[in-house]
Amino acid sequence: MIVTTAQLFKHAYGKYAVGAYNINNAEQAMGLFKGCIDSQAPFIIQISKGARKYTDKRMLEAIIRSAAEIFPDSIFAVHLDHGDEETCYDCINSGFFSSVMIDASHDPFDQNVAITKRVVDAAHKKGISVEAELGMLGGVEEDIKVEEGNACLTDPAEAEAFVKATGCDSLACAIGTSHGAFKFKGKQSLHFDVLDKIKARLPGFPLVMHGSSSVPKEEVDRINKAGGQIKDSMGVDVNEYLPAAKRGVTKVNIDTDGRLVWTRVHREFFRDKPQEFDFRPPGKIFIDEYAKFIASRNKLLGSANQLADLRKSLGK
Ligand code: G3H
Ligand code: 13P
Ligand code: ZN
Repeated sequence: MIVTTAQLFKHAYGKYAVGAYNINNAEQAMGLFKGCIDSQAPFIIQISKGARKYTDKRMLEAIIRSAAEIFPDSIFAVHLDHGDEETCYDCINSGFFSSVMIDASHDPFDQNVAITKRVVDAAHKKGISVEAELGMLGGVEEDIKVEEGNACLTDPAEAEAFVKATGCDSLACAIGTSHGAFKFKGKQSLHFDVLDKIKARLPGFPLVMHGSSSVPKEEVDRINKAGGQIKDSMGVDVNEYLPAAKRGVTKVNIDTDGRLVWTRVHREFFRDKPQEFDFRPPGKIFIDEYAKFIASRNKLLGSANQLADLRKSLGK
């Protein structure tokens, strides 16, 4: 069942965070739905502009509709990840997306407010939720690369003013994470101090954490042993997901870790079976491994085993 992110956040707020996972193809969709049903968790499917271009935007829609039929107990939102204004309108008018993200965080504050407000007005007319972003994460997202030096944490006073001015439904805040596999050189914690200040100014308002992959060392080691050349790096400490959720983070974005699962499975498979050229055997392994990964993340986010109670609260 497709719901809005606002409906998911109402149930989750202050108790757990909903995992938001990017998909690009059928194998990721199968693993995601399977992992969420295995762990009885609601979830958010994220589709980036790159994902819509990879095959064809209609392909992802068809895959998701089919997955919802294969897993009829699933409850999820379909969300545009890091949208620009034009893509937001395309998704709002598609009749398929239940939530969009307008990311004008690279623009000056007033421009970010103006663009976000236009998208909010259009989305709310159709009952669609809007996530906006304030502050700047490091790393690469879509075609924009933000150098570490230019990344800046969200200012709590600005966050309050921004939400009031735009009417957005959730806010992506920069609290020390960055996109991609190369986040921290050593162990580093989230900026809980900033999060506490934002929550104090926006009580009850859903916050979003991008760049939340944990970049597991054992995954990177296995990839490199099978011929990969991924630099050593540390991601977000998975034990900080729940403390963040208690402070108002209701959506946690994880994409890179799933790509690492894919890379490990395929590198190991073809290393061990160099004569093989049928892509379905490793595809099957990936679906199962991705499902296990998703279920493990849902447990850490606290969203596992929330499905029955959520369904009751939705009156379904
Ligand atoms: O933040 C970006 C997401 O990881 C999606 O990545 O734009 O390469 O699909 P993508
Ligand atoms: P990661 O690169 O840490 O997985 O972050 C994904 C993300 O924020 C998608 O919007
Ligand atoms: Zn992101």
